[in-house]
Amino acid sequence: MTLILGLESSCDDSAAALVTSDRQILAQAVVGQADHHRPFGGVVPEIAARAHVEILPRLIRQVLDEADISISEVDAIAATAGPGLVGGVMVGLLAGKGLALSARKPLVAVNHLEGHALSPRLTDALLQFPYLLLLASGGHCQLLEVRGVDDYRRLATTIDDAAGEAFDKSAKLLGLGYPGGPAVERLAKDGDPQAVPLPRPLVGSGEPHFSFAGLKSAVQRAVQNGNHTPEDIAASFQQAVVDCFVDRTRLALEDSDAPALVVAGGVAANQAVRGALQALAEEQSRAFSVPPGWLCTDNAAMIGWAGVERFTAGLVDELDTPARARWPLDDGAEKVRGAGVKA
Ligand code: KG4
Ligand code: ZN
Repeated sequence: MTLILGLESSCDDSAAALVTSDRQILAQAVVGQADHHRPFGGVVPEIAARAHVEILPRLIRQVLDEADISISEVDAIAATAGPGLVGGVMVGLLAGKGLALSARKPLVAVNHLEGHALSPRLTDALLQFPYLLLLASGGHCQLLEVRGVDDYRRLATTIDDAAGEAFDKSAKLLGLGYPGGPAVERLAKDGDPQAVPLPRPLVGSGEPHFSFAGLKSAVQRAVQNGNHTPEDIAASFQQAVVDCFVDRTRLALEDSDAPALVVAGGVAANQAVRGALQALAEEQSRAFSVPPGWLCTDNAAMIGWAGVERFTAGLVDELDTPARARWPLDDGAEKVRGAGVKA
């Protein structure tokens, strides 16, 4: 059995977890920094980095104590090395390097996106490679064929905003707090998803990419014209995102014979999203898997698990591994047109 200490610090959640190769989470802790950033109306990178410095050492101590494990008993330290707010990434990665050096343990530098991508396998022992993944978070919206550890084929990405970003911006327009996704979902429960006519950007287009900037602008107009309740706007917005997800994912499935469909990342915590993707999987005769909600939003259990998978595959990293603000999962693949790349 392999035991990994996972560390996460790529955005505004500090997290540590102890995860084993037989899918046990011996201890985990996540501390969000919403209180630090609320006065500024969004995540301030410098404040996030400083908060990780304050919080992370305490969380590492806490999970080791809780599991009654000494650092000498872990097999490796897995830390997020990007992509994300690079100051915060450096804090967690340097903490991981320091522990690896002092305890003489290997370092596993984890791509945060691979953490999300492999997370369903932590709780679903039956999920085998390959699977088609909709990865929808605050910073990303991608369709990926997950072929194995460190082996990804990207089929689509967003040409503007990420899905979670659209939730957060719409929440702000509706006067809801940060993070916006859960607040929009709560409000949407009392609304009519058909009440407000909103666009479904790129639906029907020939490549399975996403676009959410126009949807956010339409939400802004709906808020300003005052003809609809906030509940109806929230429900209609959520339905529009779901319709984009389903249409785009259905198209991607035409290009992949992966037997399973998976959705992960913070937006996968949304019940409407989970339900619609599950229905799509059934329609397309694919198996379906989604991590529990707490494993969808940022956490260190998924980083520890990615550490287990990489360590098991013999993938460990040097102590001079850099923190990376940008780090695509299909590094080296041709850039997708539309994603900031000129045709
Ligand atoms: O994966 P994550 O925790 O962090 C990133 O890697 O970005 O994703 C955070 C995003 C935020 O935009 C948040 O609003 C969204 O996930 N989110 C949700 C829900 N819970 C979190 N969006 C819709 N419905 C939810 N229940
Ligand atoms: Zn994330």
